[in-house]
Amino acid sequence: METSFHAEEFVDSQVNEIKSRVGQEKAMIAISGGVDSTTCAAIMHRAIGSNLKPILIDTGFMRLNEPEKVRKALSKPPLTLPLRIVRAKPKFMTALHGIENAEEKRKAFRETIYNILGENARREKCRYLVQGTIAPDWIETKGGIKTQHNVLEQLGIRTLEKYGFTLIEPLASLYKDQVRQVARYLNVGTQFSERQPFPGPGLVVRCVGKIDSKKLHALKTATEIVEKKLGDHHPQQYFAVVLENRFEDSSLSKDIQELTASSLSPKPDEVNVRIFRDKATGVKGDERVYGKVAGIGVSKTNRKRFGEDVTKLVELEGRITSTFPELVRALYLIGEQAKGSRYSLVIRAINTRDFMTADVTPVPWNVLNTLGNTLLRKVSGASSVYYDITPKPPATVEFE
Ligand code: XMP
Repeated sequence: METSFHAEEFVDSQVNEIKSRVGQEKAMIAISGGVDSTTCAAIMHRAIGSNLKPILIDTGFMRLNEPEKVRKALSKPPLTLPLRIVRAKPKFMTALHGIENAEEKRKAFRETIYNILGENARREKCRYLVQGTIAPDWIETKGGIKTQHNVLEQLGIRTLEKYGFTLIEPLASLYKDQVRQVARYLNVGTQFSERQPFPGPGLVVRCVGKIDSKKLHALKTATEIVEKKLGDHHPQQYFAVVLENRFEDSSLSKDIQELTASSLSPKPDEVNVRIFRDKATGVKGDERVYGKVAGIGVSKTNRKRFGEDVTKLVELEGRITSTFPELVRALYLIGEQAKGSRYSLVIRAINTRDFMTADVTPVPWNVLNTLGNTLLRKVSGASSVYYDITPKPPATVEFE
């Protein structure tokens, strides 16, 4: 990564280049309110002023009331951007209906969003579509690691023919920390410049397996609660995940139960292990893999004792995934209830320097316990709450 990066020089040269490229034409920019798209909008606005048409596609997969919050924040100084929101949830729900696989979901999301952007660019007579794609987005997508929804040209997709616009990607050579430097230099406000990362396809990513409205609603409620309560503990990224309570009936549960008993030393009959039917993403070497997820529950009397020692739990996770390579994640049960049998919720909190590797953030047990109880009380259909005890590798930062 470049060390001699100067935000001011970067902005000046981009503004000049954009001015001469776009001239008096209009350009539409797709904004989500994340650091990349907001910074990109600030640069574009400097370059072409009111010929920039900012648009936010409300996919239905943003957080509760997020489109409206982003619109309000962007409309105020210093940005003062007139964001138009396009409501498109039904189109996305239809496109994603019945799809289980994480990569397939990403591809369906990408196709839907660009069709909508194409229609809107045509309607507003915008020749260009601007987006905040950054270097890791296209590097990872080209490398087959995961399909970022905002990578088209780099994959050979001809946007003019397919969707009717020419792409402009002013941040395509930058890494996240450089984008944050540019955002600070442009004074976009800390609520944007320091925002925690959020995946482009939004909550599609954390709604594991097939998506439906009830499951998505459970995830949105859980996301709001987790974001409100965990910020004080300063993980770099923290969020909620929803999984369906469909479990595999295999001998693996018993093997992991024994391994847990020998590692943490409760009696084997105090441990209950569930293997979820839905798989999730992990990393092996430089490759993404799709693997199994184990939920480990110990009896209520001992739950707190083991839950207080995150280092030991992470060690246990390491033993499990190295002994059983078909597993990519282990979860530790925080709380459960008999009612609401459909979903398990997961709290994920990680610390990282570069997002290529990540450690589990040690959140104190009393915080996890209170959070678990709140989630069980407030999220309709939730029966269990787990803490993800898996670093990256073998898991990914996201849970999809
Ligand atoms: P993973 O899950 O690959 O995540 O370990 C590493 C970082 O990338 C973020 N992420 C995304 N960011 N579009 C984005 O702009 C995406 O599709 C996407 N998927 C993952 C993730 O949140 C983490 O910060």
